[in-house]
Amino acid sequence: MSETFTGHAPESGVRAGHAPAADARASASEELGARAAGLDAADRLAGRRELFALDATVYLDGNSLGALPAHVPGRLQEVLTREWGELRIRSWDESGWWAAPERIGDRIAPLVGAAAGQIVVGDSTSVNVFKAVVAATRLAPEGRDEILVDATTFPTDGYIAASAARMTGHRLVPTAPAEVPDALGPRTAAVLLNHVDYRTGRLHDLAGLTDAVHAAGAVAVWDLCHSAGALPVGLDAHGVDLAVGCTYKYLNGGPGSPAYLYVAERHQADFDSPLPGWTSHADPFGMTPGYVPADGAVRGRVGTPDILSMLALEASLDVWDGVSIEAVRAKSLALTDFFLECVAAYVPEGRVTSLTPVAHAERGSQVALRCEGAEAVMGALIERGVVGDLRRPDVLRFGFTPLYVGFADVERAARVLGEVLDGRQPDDRA
Ligand SMILES: Cc1ncc(COP(=O)(O)O)c(C=O)c1O
Repeated sequence: MSETFTGHAPESGVRAGHAPAADARASASEELGARAAGLDAADRLAGRRELFALDATVYLDGNSLGALPAHVPGRLQEVLTREWGELRIRSWDESGWWAAPERIGDRIAPLVGAAAGQIVVGDSTSVNVFKAVVAATRLAPEGRDEILVDATTFPTDGYIAASAARMTGHRLVPTAPAEVPDALGPRTAAVLLNHVDYRTGRLHDLAGLTDAVHAAGAVAVWDLCHSAGALPVGLDAHGVDLAVGCTYKYLNGGPGSPAYLYVAERHQADFDSPLPGWTSHADPFGMTPGYVPADGAVRGRVGTPDILSMLALEASLDVWDGVSIEAVRAKSLALTDFFLECVAAYVPEGRVTSLTPVAHAERGSQVALRCEGAEAVMGALIERGVVGDLRRPDVLRFGFTPLYVGFADVERAARVLGEVLDGRQPDDRA
């Protein structure tokens, strides 16, 4: 099993740079610094940064944990003192706690291209992967006995798909996304894929792969952890069956904020959850011994919602008011293009290789650089105020959250990376 889920994306993109001499470096820095200032001045999303609690750090880890929207502590304080502290149990109705999972699902829906009534918030992504994969096998035509899973997936999806396969008597077929069309067949029941690869930042063809899965008569389940809030997903437009995603990355919901489950409306009546908890019952307070599922997105619920995390998430979604996901995508691509350009200018020859595709159609909102000694390099970057993260053994990951990352941040991050890899002292401009 351990060989099954190792990342294997082909290398592509920049191979930086040309060991710039001090003079060339200074002029590149001047030129790129001026370009960054111009791009920031023209950036219509630039004002969103003020909505977040950020400091002078260049924060390029929003693909792991999004930054805190500045108004969330105040909202949580109100939830604690008024809703919990004073209203106590009345808040389930009077403060709208009970309906929060569907209400917040409807706030996330436009960001992933879903009409209202199809998303429920709750549980972790891992738990929702389990619900979705098992439910997908139950939606699939009788007699099918294979589950295809992205062989390069974030591990939890692979582990859970393997367990779901064992429990439901299916054979697990780990398959690289590019090979899915050839691997599909009359035995395929369900396919679990990632929209954006967590390690390389590769964006997969959600529309084309969903079509291929449907042409084979199977059910498509997508993990949107690394795409929701960073780029248009188009769940309804592309006919996705089921989807899951987390809310603590580009949706800025906070550490461990609840995940979500999308069940396309056409499947809701047949959605048969493997975790039919009481809050998904048609009459939860009837406390009857037999399970009767509720209609609609509620059917994806399990137990008592995690209200504090859920309401922090709800408040954090205010930063999206008036923002189009298309504008976010355009800025994300401009940021990652500019980062790759700056890395090529600042980083000594041969020290990093980008694993992230150059083609926009294949790029999410992060850049992954293979780099010898990546752990020490990331440590030095963080010490110098540039925060990305590491995927062992040798991948530096930089996530670009368009709502709060600017072009000057990008230039500074690449310049500091160049300094670290060149063994130089911090540039005083940083
Ligand atoms: C693609 C993907 N799927 C699933 C998960 C795991 O989600 P959770 O730990 O919230 O269950 C992650 C976490 O980063 C992820 O990147």
